[in-house]
Amino acid sequence: MAKMFDTSLRLDAPGPAGRPLINNLRFMAHPAWYCLDRLAPVSPGPVLAATRGNGSIVVVRGEEAVRQYFTDNDTFHRIGDGVLELPRGRSWSQMFDAVITFNGDRHRRARKLLMPIVHKSAMEHYRVVFAETFKRSRFARADGEPFDIAAEFLSITRANMLTCLLGLEPDEANVRLAERVARLMKSVFNPAIFLFQVERPWTPYGWWTRTVAGLYDEFVALIERTRAAEPRPDALSILCHTVDEDGDSLSPSEIAGELHGLFAAGFETTAMTMTWALIALAGTPGLETDGEADVDALVKESQRLIPTVPISLPRRTTREVEIDGSAPVPKGAMIVASPLLEHLDPESFPDPHAFRPSRWDDLRPSPYRFLPFGVGQRRCLGASFADLQVRTTLGLALESAAPELRTGTIDYVIRSGVTAFPRKPVFVRMTNGPVRSAAVSGSVRKLWKT
Ligand code: HEM
Repeated sequence: MAKMFDTSLRLDAPGPAGRPLINNLRFMAHPAWYCLDRLAPVSPGPVLAATRGNGSIVVVRGEEAVRQYFTDNDTFHRIGDGVLELPRGRSWSQMFDAVITFNGDRHRRARKLLMPIVHKSAMEHYRVVFAETFKRSRFARADGEPFDIAAEFLSITRANMLTCLLGLEPDEANVRLAERVARLMKSVFNPAIFLFQVERPWTPYGWWTRTVAGLYDEFVALIERTRAAEPRPDALSILCHTVDEDGDSLSPSEIAGELHGLFAAGFETTAMTMTWALIALAGTPGLETDGEADVDALVKESQRLIPTVPISLPRRTTREVEIDGSAPVPKGAMIVASPLLEHLDPESFPDPHAFRPSRWDDLRPSPYRFLPFGVGQRRCLGASFADLQVRTTLGLALESAAPELRTGTIDYVIRSGVTAFPRKPVFVRMTNGPVRSAAVSGSVRKLWKT
């Protein structure tokens, strides 16, 4: 963890008092609350320090600072060196190398070779898969029984990822494969693994490297089979058969890394986006959704108010830099933008803590003020895939029934470093009758006040 930030860096910027190491750990534990409770009251920006005067963790704030952060990719490098490292010299050493962590030319090349998987021509197949998955879900059963909404959306997105991304049926064996991929991602935040990175048969790190190796072998076998087969409409097949105009293509080992990265980036984020949207709808008395425009506004408003990814993926400054006239931010600082803070700016969104989908009837905010997927050259590569999945699934769910909240206490917590989940199961019942939702309380109310 110490590698992640350098507490010796100085920065003449406002921030809360305290010891940098302690504040940084608090920041990492819940970046959303740290930004909202400890940084937002201190200054409107453009640059805030997690600890006053210290440059180890920095947050940019305000439209111009956010624009600079997301457009100057040479100065703000995505952090690729996580807390966990894979041993070198193995076939699977590159398993975590992917577009999401690359910078510079490597990033541009990977992004270009991946773009066909989200091309318009691929979307029609994905739409059909989303609708088919929906038919097998608890929502389609509409039996009036309460169910855990986050678990159900996770099961839906897992099935969609298996079929759209890997071309696999969501049967028992493949669901287990998806669960192993998800567990691998989560291990990155497991102290038992990252604090003692010694590769022995009996260490957690040794177990973890064996899991990485096993999954890598399975991915490569799947990739080889797909390369030898006729082209199909799923993302894996598209990647296996894509050669760009210069004759460049991704190798099997590169595809394996990208598949893992796409899974990591797209599975829980999409499920939680649907979860928060449905919770916000069910918890707002008198609100009805009727038609595509309403679902679109519902999704945007919940992405604004209860963002699934409340801070950007962290960057590191590659040189000393002034941001929108700030004091110089030192080279080596870990630096983030916070969609959460931007989305609560009353200048962009009057009465910002109110959940009000109708505000989107005539609202066209700047892309630096409303940024659920980031913005610029590194904007979420799966945004159109996620948008289609969320709107298709929620549209079908709300066509014939309305959600009723059966759980009132809802806490907004960050898991796997970036994604906001409800802390405990939130039970919902889909009904055609009168809706009598439980009154919402819990920490989500710090964001969503009325
Ligand atoms: C609603 C669901 C999703 C949300 C809220 C979301 C959000 C984000 C955010 C905030 C970023 C980083 C922006 C930055 O810091 O610069 C990102 C990057 C990324 N996302 Fe998503 N994402 C979602 C779904 C997906 C899906 C479904 C996929 C893949 C199928 C995906 C693939 C990626 C990739 C590859 C990147 C890195 C792009 C790059 O660095 O060039 N995401 N996403």
